[in-house]
Amino acid sequence: MSSLKRLETASHIVELRLRVRLWRNKGDRIALVPTMGALHEGHLAHVRAAKAKAERVVVSIFVNPAQFAPHEDFSRYPRDIAKDRAMLEQQGEADLIYVPEPREIYPQGFATRVAVDGPAMGLETDFRPHFFSGVATVVSKLFLQCAPDFATFGEKDYQQLQVVKRLVKDLDIPLEIIGVPTIREPDGLALSSRNAYLNAEQRKIAAHLNRVLRAAGDAAKSGVPVSQAESEGSASLLNAGFDRVDYVAIRDAETLAPVSTLDRPTRILAAARIGAIRLIDNMPV
Ligand code: PAJ
Repeated sequence: MSSLKRLETASHIVELRLRVRLWRNKGDRIALVPTMGALHEGHLAHVRAAKAKAERVVVSIFVNPAQFAPHEDFSRYPRDIAKDRAMLEQQGEADLIYVPEPREIYPQGFATRVAVDGPAMGLETDFRPHFFSGVATVVSKLFLQCAPDFATFGEKDYQQLQVVKRLVKDLDIPLEIIGVPTIREPDGLALSSRNAYLNAEQRKIAAHLNRVLRAAGDAAKSGVPVSQAESEGSASLLNAGFDRVDYVAIRDAETLAPVSTLDRPTRILAAARIGAIRLIDNMPV
């Protein structure tokens, strides 16, 4: 007999709210795992972390147009709800998939955007200026629609995690953000839906990203000045075959403000491109 659990789907806000209300009336706690689909083991780790905290897990799948710039990959972002559903059913810990229609999230006349500062400044914002306000807007809506007790965000997108933590604190949104460690391939490449764009040769180059970050972080720890460790890290990425390095930066682990010494928790973060494919990664120093 199959142990597969048939997953319920909600496509409308009212259905989501009704389901969540029924659970809440029974005393269940609810965790939300926001995703854009194209699920992989990294996302499944979120479902696991969510289930460890809450009786009920909602996985939202929504490719959010507000966080893509016109030249970015919104239209070709991988979409395969049937495959996503099969993965979640196989894993068996999610209770509901929430797949809203774009017009329900952004109805005609939609005119509001959540502005974010602090950890949203610099790094990704220097290259994707509207990205975090797009993320902040959609996650605020998802939080209000689902009203979960917990929501998971990955360390893979470390700046996003810090921005969302700040957002929840600043707007008194009554939920706890759970940070989930990065799931990696055996060679250290962080799992990402965008890895699917890499050909075999690009895939080999991509594996250098995490190694270079580790080496640059270690160099800084062993006394190499922060700015030198960053520029040597950048040079190593170009050497390894990356076409462009957007940044290699050592930052305060919470505020993401620049640092010149390592006298507090810090994180090394990078974004680099192979052809048109942009990869990001980070780790503690
Ligand atoms: P998406 O890229 O689908 O990622 C969904 C969640 O999975 C994010 O919290 C992300 O940090 C996490 N994640 C991605 N790769 C991971 C990995 N290798 N290990 C662990 N976690 C990983 O991030 C987004 O979607 C969107 O910006 C979203 C928050 C859904 C708002 O639209």
